[in-house]
Amino acid sequence: MRVFVTGGAGFIGSHVSRVLLGQGHQVTVLDNLSRGRRELVPESAAFIEADLADEAATEQALRGHDAVIHLANFLEVSVSVERPVAFAENNIVNSVRLLEAMRRAGVGRIVFSSSATVYGVPKRLPLREDDPLGVQANPYGATKVAVETFLGVYHQLHGFDCILLRYFNPYGPNELCDPETHAVPSIVRAALEEKPIPLYWQGEQVRDYIYVEDLARAHANVLEAKGLQVFNVGTDVGTKVTDVVETVSRILGRPLPIDDLGERPGDVAASYASSEKLREATGWRPQVNLEEGLRRTIEHYRERLGIAG
Ligand SMILES: NC(=O)c1ccc[n+]([C@@H]2O[C@H](COP(=O)([O-])OP(=O)(O)OC[C@H]3O[C@@H](n4cnc5c(N)ncnc54)[C@H](O)[C@@H]3O)[C@@H](O)[C@H]2O)c1
Repeated sequence: MRVFVTGGAGFIGSHVSRVLLGQGHQVTVLDNLSRGRRELVPESAAFIEADLADEAATEQALRGHDAVIHLANFLEVSVSVERPVAFAENNIVNSVRLLEAMRRAGVGRIVFSSSATVYGVPKRLPLREDDPLGVQANPYGATKVAVETFLGVYHQLHGFDCILLRYFNPYGPNELCDPETHAVPSIVRAALEEKPIPLYWQGEQVRDYIYVEDLARAHANVLEAKGLQVFNVGTDVGTKVTDVVETVSRILGRPLPIDDLGERPGDVAASYASSEKLREATGWRPQVNLEEGLRRTIEHYRERLGIAG
């Protein structure tokens, strides 16, 4: 297939592009490099530096593609609280611009990078796709719900095939958050730099850490899915943040001192997925366990930070 990856110079997009190329697909990456880095785009992918706000340029670039994987969003939750309008514009309005450009270019298939955040505070665990969406605690989550809703509209009105992937907690090489708010890169960086590990809630929160290459493969698995479908992408395993710290400590072979940051309002205590639906529909399964994923992540950050092993 000829696949158009928005945000393909970013963390998840760089892995998605590589997986698709490895499976023989052709890949075009569109990214404005506001966050992404050109060198993360695989050499055999075509690259277009453009902003989704430029609907005409997107339409032109889209012609001849069979499917879109849409990852170009802003994602730092704390920034979304300070800049809700920027988030609404980039994540919601630019996504609708993309959908309009697709309609005009005759491309009617899209896979969207949604998030477990749409469930709000879970009423039961593991979370399943038919669980109700929750009240959103921040503008970022609201943008994901809004884009999911628009995808439903394009499915109803224009017959688009729309696949909503709700990611749980991706981690691995190439993560680019600034400020760094995600647990795994914060823990790994602090550990390698021999600083105390910053922990909220004393690390008691439970999350579902999905290695980024496993997540990337899920996109390839749903490329040909039809209709309007929602899939969780997680491991079905709830892991405490303290378990991540202990695993990193074991890999590095030394104890890790903690910086207790207290409580952080708005955080969900526990969240993990049932990915049974994706497994049954496509045969997808995660292949990289937490220990192996953390080893690879540590290697990546060692190189990136220039810290010898
Ligand atoms: N990383 C996570 O933990 C996580 C969790 C759930 C969902 N997601 C979603 O996955 C997607 C990808 O996330 P990521 O972690 O790879 O983020 P990222 O910031 O590394 O990648 C996003 C890319 O989109 C590009 N971009 C942003 N706005 C653009 C625009 N208007 N035009 C063109 N390019 C634009 C950025 O330059 C960047 O390269 C996002 O939709 C995010 O909300 C991420």
